[in-house]
This record gives sequence, C-alpha cells and structure tokens, in this order.
Amino acid sequence: MLIVGNWKAYITSTADIAGYVNLFSRAAAYSKNFGAVEVRTSSRIRGADEKKKMTGADVVLCPPFPFLSGVAAHAKPLGIHVGAQDVFWESKGPYTGEITPAMLKSMEVSYVIIGHSERRRNFGETDESVSKKVCAVLAEGLAPIVCVGEWEKPRGPEMERKMYDFVRAQVRTALRLVDAKNLKRVVFAYEPVWAITGSGTGEADTPENAARMIVFIRRIIASHADAKTAHAMRVIYGGSVTSQNCEGFLSHQAIDGVLAGSASTHPKEFAKIISIANAIKK
Ligand code: PGA
Repeated sequence: MLIVGNWKAYITSTADIAGYVNLFSRAAAYSKNFGAVEVRTSSRIRGADEKKKMTGADVVLCPPFPFLSGVAAHAKPLGIHVGAQDVFWESKGPYTGEITPAMLKSMEVSYVIIGHSERRRNFGETDESVSKKVCAVLAEGLAPIVCVGEWEKPRGPEMERKMYDFVRAQVRTALRLVDAKNLKRVVFAYEPVWAITGSGTGEADTPENAARMIVFIRRIIASHADAKTAHAMRVIYGGSVTSQNCEGFLSHQAIDGVLAGSASTHPKEFAKIISIANAIKK
C-alpha cells in the first residue's frame, strides 16, 4: 500500500514544517496502527523514550522543493520517504531555475510526482514532457508517480468512452520510452481532475469508479508489457481523499493506495489516513 501526501504550495515556510512534524509525530504516537518505523513521542505524552513503530503502508511526503531537505531530515527517521512535486528531464546544463533528477537524488528524494493536472493546466505540461520526465527519473533510480485522469466528470456513455480513450493515451505516452526492466518502479496515480480540491466539484470519485479505471490502467500496462508486470506495479487513487473517505479506496482490492493533497497538509489528518491504511489487510 502506498500513501502519498502532496503539499502542493499550501505549506510555505520552514516554521510550518517544524509545527507539522511535531503534530504528526504526536498523532502517530496516539494511533493504534503505527507499528517498522519508530515514532518518538514526547515525554509529556507517553513517557521518555517510548517509541512506536509504523508498519504496512509505504508513506511518501512531497513538500515544495525548498523544503525537501528539511522534511527529509524529519521524515527519514520515521521511515517516511520524500518525494518531489515535479522535475526537469535533462540531467544537467544551462537550464536556469530547473531541478534535475540528480539534484533530487542527492537530497534523498526517492519519488517524483510527474504530470500533475495543476502542472498540465498552469505550466504547459504535456504527455510528451511527462514521457521525458518519467525516463529521466527512472534513469536516476527514482520512482515516478505519474498522474493521469480526465478533466470533466463524464455524463453519459459517449463522455465515458472519451474518458477511457483519454486516459489510455496518457498512460501509453507516459510509458512509451520506458525500458521494460524499469517498469515496476513506475507508479500511476489516477486523479480525475474534477475530483481534486479546488479543481472542479471537489468531491471525491467513488471507490467503485476509481477501481474500474485502475483496472483499465492495469490492462493498458499489461498490453504494453505483460500481466505480471502490470500486477506488480502500483496504481493509486487521488482526488479529495480524506480520513473520512479513504477506507473505501484503500480497502478496494484493485486500488494500491491514495494520493492526498490538501488532507496531507493537516498532520493529524494525514496521520489518521496512514493509520487507516495500516489497519487494512489485503
Ligand atoms: P486533493 O489533491 O487531495 O487536495 O484533492 C489531490 C491532488 O491534486 O493530488
């Protein structure tokens, strides 16, 4: 199971990070289901040196670039991975302002979100640039989390058909240049854009609809590679995930995890999502 928190540009200062980590650790300490990762609890909460461990889900926090090393310093001891929200496809050179995969790797980043709809909508990201970024990230040994999903909620069979065609094209292009041996490291996040907070209805999709699309995405991967690889790859859901609705997604057999945006910026809420994931046996 994979739980990804995308802070977007919600958290904007280093002071916010210290506060976040403090509250997150406390929330984790109180939770029943944090059990491989040590979460140090404050002596005021449970007695000095008491530690809890977090098992089960792989957790990734994706802060804005300037906060990567600060978050890594706090997250690594908890066994939480650090991810970036974007990347450039070239390895180095005269590209003012760009962040390359090698830079991310040197900052202990292990995952990179690629092709988020907010980058597609606001910064001209295309399926082609996504494809180049996926390869660049894999070449550096990192894991891309590729976001795909339709813009509008489909109304009727014609729109549904177009939605599947659209997502098929996104997945195929993202994988076009990927070497078969690297495929298993690719994560897909199905994020119907209309379900993302601030992007449309702001209402999550249903687990059943999300699962149907995720099964479809796995079928596309299988036709690109083979069924075994498709089965081994992780495909997760994102779009208005909260601690209230995550169980439905996480307990669905077809869904390998969730990507939470705004909910992940609230430490107690994010800790709750993780503990719900940790409690689910699949
Ligand atoms: P949200 O964002 O959880 O705030 O809807 C998800 C995303 O955009 O990745």
